[in-house]
Amino acid sequence: MWLVMKIKELQSQISGVNTSDGDGVNMTRLIGTQQLNYIDPFLLLDAFGSDEPNDYIGGFPSHPHRGFETVTYLLAGKMRHKDNAGNEGIIEAGGVQWMTAGKGIVHSEMPEQEDGLLSGFQLWVNLPAMDKMTEPAYQEFSKAEIPIERWENGTEIRVITGSTERGTQGPVKNTYVSPLFMDVSLKSGQAFQQTIDADDNSFIYVIDGELSIGEEAQLLAEKNIGILERGDQISVISKTNQSRFIVISAKPLNEPIARGGPFVMNSEAEVQQAFADYRNGRF
Ligand code: CO
Repeated sequence: MWLVMKIKELQSQISGVNTSDGDGVNMTRLIGTQQLNYIDPFLLLDAFGSDEPNDYIGGFPSHPHRGFETVTYLLAGKMRHKDNAGNEGIIEAGGVQWMTAGKGIVHSEMPEQEDGLLSGFQLWVNLPAMDKMTEPAYQEFSKAEIPIERWENGTEIRVITGSTERGTQGPVKNTYVSPLFMDVSLKSGQAFQQTIDADDNSFIYVIDGELSIGEEAQLLAEKNIGILERGDQISVISKTNQSRFIVISAKPLNEPIARGGPFVMNSEAEVQQAFADYRNGRF
């Protein structure tokens, strides 16, 4: 019997929309817009990156979340986070904070710098209906704690969660949607392959360079997010001298999504309940 792999092709790519969130932080919203509402189970992806303090100095003062997970992955700079469950710390370049808001948390994320480059991502990962009211939880790993798999051809894969084909395991534990989150650097003309669960929804965001995706070799441009078709394998070739991209993948929840600002539940009534609970100090 033949085991036929289906290579994932590029379904579409978009450049996102410029927006401002928190206290005037300028960023590009790639997921969570009218153009691209979500890639189930991923509800939001923001990319921020500026060496102009006015673009980020206001940070994200105290605000609540319920019903999903917020992930901050920093490429450059430092941010201080604090929440009402008693967690506090500084995320530095290459570090990740994976916060399960669950039934409710109030947190802030503020730049721990007054000038210089601050860049990174914020990703929202949905929780299954049965886990939306779970106890809040929190995982944080520094650059040094995130393993790097190095291939003979110079490819470097930083694994935040999930596992590579060669077995490099990311430190973030997540059994809700079992996501894969990798940060890949490729030299010119070099390829990256990763076997993926055929049910997964997957996307790539290009930090630097230009990529050729799948057997159809469609080009995915710098700073664009590329949504991949269903398939068993991600296959990417770098078209530029040095490219860097993130690969994110997980099985979809296929449940109703009701958004209300910082709350994402399954129904409008649950969103209204979240606002009421927050107003009444139940977070
Ligand atoms: Co937040």
